[in-house]
Parts: sequence; structure tokens; C-alpha cells
Amino acid sequence: MFGDVSMIRSAAKNPATSPELTDSLKASVTSKRAQVLSVLKEAASKFPVITFANSFGAEDMVLTDIIMREKLAIEIFSLDTGRLPAETYTLMAEAESTYNTKLKVYFPKHEVVEQYVQTKGMNAFYESIDLRKACCHMRKVEPLKRALNGKQAWITGMRAEQATTRANLPVQEFDEGNKLEKFNPLSDWTEQEVWAYIRLHEVPYNKLHDVFYPSIGCAPCTRAVAMGEDVRAGRWWWEDPTSKECGLHVKKPK
Ligand code: ADX
Ligand code: SF4
Repeated sequence: MFGDVSMIRSAAKNPATSPELTDSLKASVTSKRAQVLSVLKEAASKFPVITFANSFGAEDMVLTDIIMREKLAIEIFSLDTGRLPAETYTLMAEAESTYNTKLKVYFPKHEVVEQYVQTKGMNAFYESIDLRKACCHMRKVEPLKRALNGKQAWITGMRAEQATTRANLPVQEFDEGNKLEKFNPLSDWTEQEVWAYIRLHEVPYNKLHDVFYPSIGCAPCTRAVAMGEDVRAGRWWWEDPTSKECGLHVKKPK
């Protein structure tokens, strides 16, 4: 069921992470950067208690770069599930050094994780969707609630193109589940634009992207994708694509 990671990691370099930097691509990145900057500035001025959820994926590194270089008054936090790939921790440290900052990191409640592991098993998330969702809940959703507590708005790096569950993703929406405003400033960015930004601005990024991991979450629930496969095909790959959200971005029916 699970891929041979050593084989995947020695595979050829993913061309998607180094697009050809044509004049038109550079121009679209410049204009989209300006739009994102204006969305972020307006968001921070209307909702001063605002925070950015940073997973250290490629999109989130674009937002981190803009927020840090423009010195925007936007807090940045991350959720450390305890099961992240080693490459993500390497990038976290690199980002601290590049942007001369210390990260704000939320961890799961240790009693709940201990109880789950003791009663269900170390890798029980492979056994059923319910056990997978319970794991995502204790390692991501509950810490997210604490991170968003008292905030007026939050920012994500989601793009509409990433998944069927994200089609028509608005740049600004009201997050009913968490009862606060939510901004997705990269909603209309293409994967190519994200990578062009990273290359043009020499932004640090997760080296797993170079070996065909377009979307990176926890190590045991993320695999490399084959050429032409959907960018999120490697996340919870054993599940149906329509249910593949971890609970951070669930829409409540109106
Ligand atoms: S997930 O819901 O399937 O895990 P994905 O990895 O695509 O989401 O990330 C979408 C957005 O959710 C990211 O751009 C980021 O804003 C937020 N996010 C996801 N994982 C984390 C994390 N570990 N820490 C902080 N924010 C996260
Ligand atoms: Fe648990 Fe996997 Fe969800 Fe991470 S992605 S919280 S390991 S089920």
C-alpha cells in the first residue's frame, strides 16, 4: 500500500518547481504579488487581530515572504502535528534564519495523543476514515482552534486549483465554523506562478517539492505523485478525493 520512499526521493527533479521564467510569467507574478499585498494590507487594517496559518508548503512560503519582507502587522503561526517530515523541520529552521524571526508553533494536547496511541495504535489513521479524522482532529483541528481563539481574521495559502473541494475558493469569506473572517489571497494563483515567485525571490522551500511532493502534510499521510497526477493525489491517497480534507477548512452548511 505504501510507496518506497527511498526510491521516490532519489527520483528525477520535479520540473514543476523550476518553471521557465518567461516575461509573461514574470509579469503575472509581479501583478499578482501587488494584488496579494493589497489584500493583506486591507485585511490587516480592517481586522487588526489577524493571523496567518503557515504549513510551510510552497504557497505558504510565498505569503511568508510577502508578510516578512513588507513587515506587515500579521502574526504567523504553525501547527506542529508531531508527525511532520524531517524536511519540514529543516525548512522551519531555515525560515527562522532567512527572516530573522522565531516561529509561533502550536502542538497537540499530549494527553489526548497519548490516549489515542495507547488505545488505537501508533498508525491507526490508516485503518479507517474515522480514525484518520480523529487523528487530524487532535493533531490539527483542536490546536487550530486555540491558534484562532480571540482572532478577528485568519489567512491561508489555499488555491482554488488545488482540489475539487477548493473550486471557487473566494479571496475573502466568512468562516462559519470558526466564526471569523478568512482570507485566501492566493486563490487564483497557478502552481507555475507560485514556483516562479519562489525562484524570482529566492524564497526558501521544502526540498520534498523537488521530488514530486506538490502538497505536503504529515509524513505518514503524504506520498509523492506521478507526473500528471493531481497535486493533492499524494495526500491521504487511500481515500476518496471528495473527502480529502483534514478538517482545517471544512465549510458548515448554511
Ligand atoms: S490541509 O487542510 O489539507 O492540511 P493544505 O496542506 O492544503 O491543507 O494547506 C492549506 C492551508 O491550510 C495552508 O495554506 C495553511 O494556511 C493551512 N495549514 C495546513 N496545514 C497547516 C499547518 N500544519 N500549520 C498551519 N497552517 C496549516
Ligand atoms: Fe494524523 Fe495523518 Fe492527519 Fe497528520 S495527516 S494529523 S498523521 S491523520
